[in-house]
Amino acid sequence: MLPPLTAHAPPARGLFVAFEGGDGAGKSTQARLVAQALQGRGLRVVTTREPGGTTVGAAIREVLLHGEHVAPRAEALLFAADRAHHAATVVRPALAAGAVVLCDRFMDSSVAYQGAARGLAHAEVRQLSLWATEGLVPHLTVVLDVDAASAVARRGKEPDRLERESLDFHERVRAGFLALAEADPGRYLVLEATRPPRQLAEAVLAALEPQLAQVAADQGAAS
Ligand SMILES: Nc1ncnc2c1ncn2[C@@H]1O[C@H](COP(=O)(O)OP(=O)(O)OP(=O)(O)O)[C@@H](O)[C@H]1O
Ligand SMILES: [Mg+2]
Repeated sequence: MLPPLTAHAPPARGLFVAFEGGDGAGKSTQARLVAQALQGRGLRVVTTREPGGTTVGAAIREVLLHGEHVAPRAEALLFAADRAHHAATVVRPALAAGAVVLCDRFMDSSVAYQGAARGLAHAEVRQLSLWATEGLVPHLTVVLDVDAASAVARRGKEPDRLERESLDFHERVRAGFLALAEADPGRYLVLEATRPPRQLAEAVLAALEPQLAQVAADQGAAS
């Protein structure tokens, strides 16, 4: 199990929330519902995703998810390359401007997929991500937890390269996310992803509540 990232503080401005979980866990649904709720309260919100939150990232996403076999270390580097560009050109500028950034997948997906599921060393995969982003860590990581078989049943569209992996692979992904959350409970919110979407979004908002007043004040001061 990896130790908590005690040496890495979340950004001083803005609010950075990562939504993590297996394929079909409900990450995009939650990012959307939480964005709507926060925007309804007048907050500036940037919703983005990895891989593919930038033009460069869209090209990397295509290679990673819709191309041919990619060797595990190349896969890890491509995800890290996407993250480096995304952090530098989208996430950090938005946070510096005081925005709430809701990111559909982030660093923990690399540890869960390339570490826990593919078998690369977890600490190296996480270090690669920290190097890529110059130490960017979320204020809160929401893990949407669902068993692999239920998640498959939810996924409607044609499966991508990673979704085509075995149930066993996806159970290792799930265990990878849960291990990260267990090691650092203060920075995680683990939710049973079979609960109704609106209830889940309420739980995320409740977890963010203590920080929202400061974010709103910063945004008010900046506008
Ligand atoms: N809490 C929930 N309960 C039941 N169904 C849900 C829930 N959340 C999302 N869904 C449904 O499950 C499917 C997958 O949801 P969503 O696209 O949000 O997952 P995802 O984690 O973003 O998936 P992917 O990894 O493929 O991007 C969608 O059809 C969505 O409507
Ligand atoms: Mg999604």
